[in-house]
Order: sequence, then C-alpha cells, then structure tokens
Amino acid sequence: MNKIFNIAEEIIEEASKYLLKSLHRKKISYKSGHFNLVTNIDKEVENLIVGKIKKSFPTHTIVAEESGIHKKESHHEWFIDPIDGTTNFAHNYPSFCISIAYMKDSELQIGLVKNPSSGELFSAIKRKGARLNGKKISVSSIKKLSESLLVTGFPQETKKSKLSNFERFKNLTLNTHGVRRAGSAALDLCNVAAGRLEGYWEEKLSPWDVAAGVLILKEAGGKITNYKNGKYDIYSKEILATNGLVHKELMSYL
Ligand code: IPD
Ligand code: CA
Ligand code: CA
Repeated sequence: MNKIFNIAEEIIEEASKYLLKSLHRKKISYKSGHFNLVTNIDKEVENLIVGKIKKSFPTHTIVAEESGIHKKESHHEWFIDPIDGTTNFAHNYPSFCISIAYMKDSELQIGLVKNPSSGELFSAIKRKGARLNGKKISVSSIKKLSESLLVTGFPQETKKSKLSNFERFKNLTLNTHGVRRAGSAALDLCNVAAGRLEGYWEEKLSPWDVAAGVLILKEAGGKITNYKNGKYDIYSKEILATNGLVHKELMSYL
C-alpha cells in the first residue's frame, strides 16, 4: 500500500503546484443555474490527476467529479475531486483543496487532502493512522456539545429547496461555541480529524467530496454515521462525522 500512497502523494503535490501557478488565469462558468460554479482550472487539475493515475495504474477505475467514471477493473477505484470548495477558489477565499482517495474491493485504503493555500497535506492509510504534513493527528477529547465548535454545509440546491439546514444551524449556533460554514466538505472532515472541530454534518454530498476525508477522520479516531446512527458509506445521502464523544448529543439536533 505504501507504494500506491507514495505515487498518490506525488500526484497531489504536483496538482497542488499546478493549481497555485494557475490562479491568475481562472475563468468561472456555471454547471447549472447561477450557483453551481466550475472553473477551467477544476478541469485542468482533474485532467492532470486522471492522466497520472491512468499512467501508473492503467487497469484501475477512476471516478472524477468533472469527467465522470473512467471504468476499468472494479476492484480498484479512485475518487477525485480536483477542487473541493470551488466557490471559495473562484473568490480567492483560501479554503479549498484537492481530494484523492483509493479504494480496494469497496474498502477505502488511502486518502489525501491537500490545501494548496496553507500547504497542509492531510493523509491516511487504512489501519496506519492519519497524518497532517507527516505528523500523526487525532480527534479532540471534548465531551460536551456546549463546548464544541462545529461545521456544516448547505447543498447547492438550498436556494430552491424547502428542506433547509438553517433551523439546525441556528439551534446549534445557540447551544455550542459556534458553527462554521467553510465551504469544503473534504477540509471540514480533515479539521475534525485534526481536533480543530468536534463535529460536522451535511447532506447530498457526492463520493468524491468525502472519500478521502472519511478515511482520514476514521483513522484519526472519529466516528461517522448517518443522522440516525446508521451505517455510513461514501454514497450515503447524509453524513454525521464527529470526534465520537459528542456524536449522540449532536445527533439529537439533526
Ligand atoms: C462542494 C463543497 C461544499 C459542499 C458542497 C459541495 P465543490 O464541493 O464540498 O463544502 O457544501 O455540497 O458540492 O462543488 O466545491 O467541489
Ligand atoms: Ca466537492
Ligand atoms: Ca469540485
């Protein structure tokens, strides 16, 4: 697994350098409606990553946000989000990242999340712990929700839908140290893994948003379920991810 990890790490570092040097020539367009943004750099970074993975692992399947499924052998799958937090990226708000995960026989094995603006690289290999720039990380030891800092996100269609996260956002803001909305699901999971936040919840995410962050948080000692304490996988439509200690209490608000 270390060999695959090293290749994935080289790829994400190269993609991160490419992204930083391309900042000045980004052009925004819309996937649908007026709020679902994408840029030329999302596509270029994805092409770079997909090309490198195909070169090293020609028989592996790749699932990438902008170009879809590159189907090959299904025992080996990669999940790529070239920029998670595109809206932040489009506005030069430095909370976005590149997310790469590798799965074997439907089990996450490797997760890498790189924030090019801060230089932080979060990573994990299954059963080998989670790391931030090479140093082991673990979730926080805060036990009470009232002493917790949380994060959430709002699905793209929030503006159109009647289903709203605003009520939960308000209730939890009033009963905790606060709730952040940072705009990158992958970084949200990594920040819980690093003990900076106690919990995260969100709905309607895609597998490329969460695959790497989920492994990183699990390897850091975190807990992930759906809103009803049921089994979670990267295709689940809701995610509740915490340090484990505030899980039950946070769930009671969802
Ligand atoms: C988005 C981010 C955001 C989440 C959205 C995602 P994108 O991914 O993860 O935090 O709230 O639902 O779509 O579009 O920036 O790759
Ligand atoms: Ca994303
Ligand atoms: Ca994206």
